[in-house]
Amino acid sequence: MENQEEAILIQGGKPLNGAVKINGAKNSAVALLAAAALSEGSVLLENLPNISDVDVMLGILKAIGFHVSKEGEGVYRLTAQADPLPRTPDELTRKMRASYYFMGSLLGRLGESSVALPGGCDIGERPIDQHLKGFKALGVKITEEDGGSRYHFLAPKLKGAAVFFDMITVGATINTMLAACRASGTTTLENVAREPEVIEVANFLNAMGAEVRGAGTETIRIRGVKKLGGCSYTCIPDRIEAGTYMIAAAATKGNLLLENVIPEHMEAVSAKLREAGFGVSSGLDWIRVNATGIRPQGIMVQTLPYPGFPTDLQPPMTAMLTCAEGSSRVVETIYERRFGSVDGLITMGATVRVEGQTAWVEGVEQLHGAEVTATDLRAGAALLIAGLFATGETRLLGVHHIDRGYGNMVEQLMSLGVQLKRVTL
Ligand code: EPU
Repeated sequence: MENQEEAILIQGGKPLNGAVKINGAKNSAVALLAAAALSEGSVLLENLPNISDVDVMLGILKAIGFHVSKEGEGVYRLTAQADPLPRTPDELTRKMRASYYFMGSLLGRLGESSVALPGGCDIGERPIDQHLKGFKALGVKITEEDGGSRYHFLAPKLKGAAVFFDMITVGATINTMLAACRASGTTTLENVAREPEVIEVANFLNAMGAEVRGAGTETIRIRGVKKLGGCSYTCIPDRIEAGTYMIAAAATKGNLLLENVIPEHMEAVSAKLREAGFGVSSGLDWIRVNATGIRPQGIMVQTLPYPGFPTDLQPPMTAMLTCAEGSSRVVETIYERRFGSVDGLITMGATVRVEGQTAWVEGVEQLHGAEVTATDLRAGAALLIAGLFATGETRLLGVHHIDRGYGNMVEQLMSLGVQLKRVTL
């Protein structure tokens, strides 16, 4: 998908109306795929999203010796004929962030792993010191290879330990959990992330025979087991994709039903949309956003670890607020560089001033279409939404960023009554 550069052409001004079925969650799917490397049986994963990050993870699994067979749309069976290789291929590993979960899963499985420093969106420093802290506590010897561009981890015997993380991190919580489920004795992880992805990985590990307790709270306890086996597992719906559609519906003054969602995961977003003046209702597995004829009020948004407002939805929310009545303040507390879409929004007529980690937004009546470029995945989603409610045509470049995390987005949006198309440059 990345080889042929494409653009999305959007004719703005149409509301998002109808119903959309939300796909499996990117950030869960990629973690489950790495965790599957711990299995000595055969794993069936269902509801994986059709995105390039999943393709890269499947590519890495194949390269280290897994047999991967596609058994349906979003359904994959993964089987290791023998022990996988401890080293992941550098080129694929550097394409994305979640490839670093192979550090922990291969350590757990083999007592050794060699993994290049991961890539992913350029939204801040993104160090991995807390992952290394977790591994070290389990008795892992860590050495840098190739001038520091790859890490080698070695622990013939992983030993359960207590780890207190210095900050809330999804990645380090999951990575340490992956290694610890094969350590001897008990591991206690404190000050851990409580994101749904963490619970998801714990549930998946338990389905393979691990003993992980407390995921979703501040402390996770893991009793090491000798072996993990096969299982079938269905990936949860993507709360960030759902939030993106909710914000798109609100920004275009539409009326949208989202199906296959977990409303509990959406509470921070629903609350902010209600605060801005929109109608949000929900049932067991659906949410409706009613924004017909509603111009949002300016609000204050601050990103926080779950259950706070997710950083991944900050760029789409900022885009929506450019046309709110009055001013808004958006504070980004997770990443240093997550206002990558602001330049594009300004090109489209928005009034936004970024000072450090805060964006001050003065609402304007209308944005106008322009040529803008996605600099990362969620900045791309933000500019796409801006194009949907701007007048005239928007030409969005850097589309490969969007393909990393949103499956069939253009087709889905077209089915909701807005006008857009992909073109090859
Ligand atoms: N951090 C450290 N040291 C560490 C680990 C993290 O300083 O060892 C810092 C990070 O630099 C960041 C903060 O802690 O400032 C939070 O990082 P976290 O580890 O929680 O993030 P991540 O695991 O790298 C995942 C998602 C991100 C999402 C964040 C926060 C995946 C593959 N990525 O990243 O998703 O923003 O959690 O919820 O799960 C996206 O989908 O667009 C995306 C960037």
